Amino acid sequence: LGLWLIGARGGVAVTAIAGIIAQRLGLADGTALVSELPQFAHLPLAKWDDIVIGGHEIRSAPLADELERLHRESRVLSPQLVAACRPELEKIDAEIRPGTLWNVGAKITELADFPPPANPAEQLPRDILKRLQADLTDFQTRHKLDTVVILNVSSTEPLPNQALWPATWAEAEASLARPDCPLPASSLYAIAALDLGLPFVNFTPSLGALPAGIDELARLRNTCHAGRDGKTGETLMKSVLAPMFAARNLNVMSWVGHNIFGNLDGKVLDDPANKQAKIQSKDRLITDILGYTPQTLISIEHIESLGDWKTAWDHIHFQGFLGTPMTLQFTWQGCDSILAAPLAIDLVRFTALAKKRGETGALPWLASFFKSPQGNPPPAFADQYRALEAWAQDAK
Ligand code: NAI
Repeated sequence: LGLWLIGARGGVAVTAIAGIIAQRLGLADGTALVSELPQFAHLPLAKWDDIVIGGHEIRSAPLADELERLHRESRVLSPQLVAACRPELEKIDAEIRPGTLWNVGAKITELADFPPPANPAEQLPRDILKRLQADLTDFQTRHKLDTVVILNVSSTEPLPNQALWPATWAEAEASLARPDCPLPASSLYAIAALDLGLPFVNFTPSLGALPAGIDELARLRNTCHAGRDGKTGETLMKSVLAPMFAARNLNVMSWVGHNIFGNLDGKVLDDPANKQAKIQSKDRLITDILGYTPQTLISIEHIESLGDWKTAWDHIHFQGFLGTPMTLQFTWQGCDSILAAPLAIDLVRFTALAKKRGETGALPWLASFFKSPQGNPPPAFADQYRALEAWAQDAK
């Protein structure tokens, strides 16, 4: 199985790669990998030794240095594990190609030091698409891979205005030939993958394969996609707790969540345009679960000294019997990339199997992994997780 990472040198990507290597070397025991639970043991999921990794990036820092820096600054992985990963990471470095900065906004463009080759012929999104597809095809052919799952773990882009999302593939295709094409890089990566019949997973709040016109392309090419935005921490808690308030007929009056963290993702989200995409993705859930809209506030602030450690403090003000107000508060302290990486790996293994089984379009049974799942699944975590188990019972 090929795994092609968009944003291959980022925190989630390098931690996922380290996780796959650690599983391969017998240095990890599968904790936090949903796909390693007994109810999925009968599935023919990709084996650790069979996963070949490559990707697109816009930064040039070697993978081993990125892993070492992330885990030195944030004190997560042991130096021994980081050292054990180094030889393999050096091999993967050779499989990373320059990505695209089309419509990613100023904040992400500032990060780039591994830009695409200056090519006067590459003026339009359709030219960029050709280059991205050539990279994917070359990777797949050289390694003789049945399929390659494209996993978007790149920085969160500003979301284009919804009125500009293509409703049909014909509309999307036509816009690729225009210099004012509104689709962002994440959608170009999605189109590049789906058009080749490869599955695409969007772990970020960026647009990716969300527009109906890109979903149509997936169906036309008999392939599948899943997204958006990994549900790793605070939102996971919300999707578990909000159904409890609903089931006990407690009236949630307000739900406030403050998030502070210090990694590169936090730096990008410090820009209001990029932050808006994330907040939208985090905010809808409560209304969807409760069926009404309490006052909500979500803040995301970049606090450098915290590195990869995120603290979320949630304050839930609710009304009980006879109108009596009460409060639930929780504090979630998680390591961002360590929470995200196993889910990213699970998504790749499950999506690869869905592709093998001939599933097409959005995969709603993967909803438990996402903050803003596509394909209209139920919003509560327990229902979403049951859908995954039901899929696994049918899948062989
Ligand atoms: P990061 O900032 O460490 O990594 C992002 C990587 O993407 C960087 O190496 C950057 O150079 C690269 N990149 C940016 N634009 C690109 C483009 N157009 N083409 C190719 N590469 C590009 O961020 P991190 O922490 O790894 O998160 C990755 C994404 O996953 C973010 O969008 C984040 O919001 C999302 N996410 C992360 C979660 C978590 O860490 N717990 C949870 C849910 C979503």
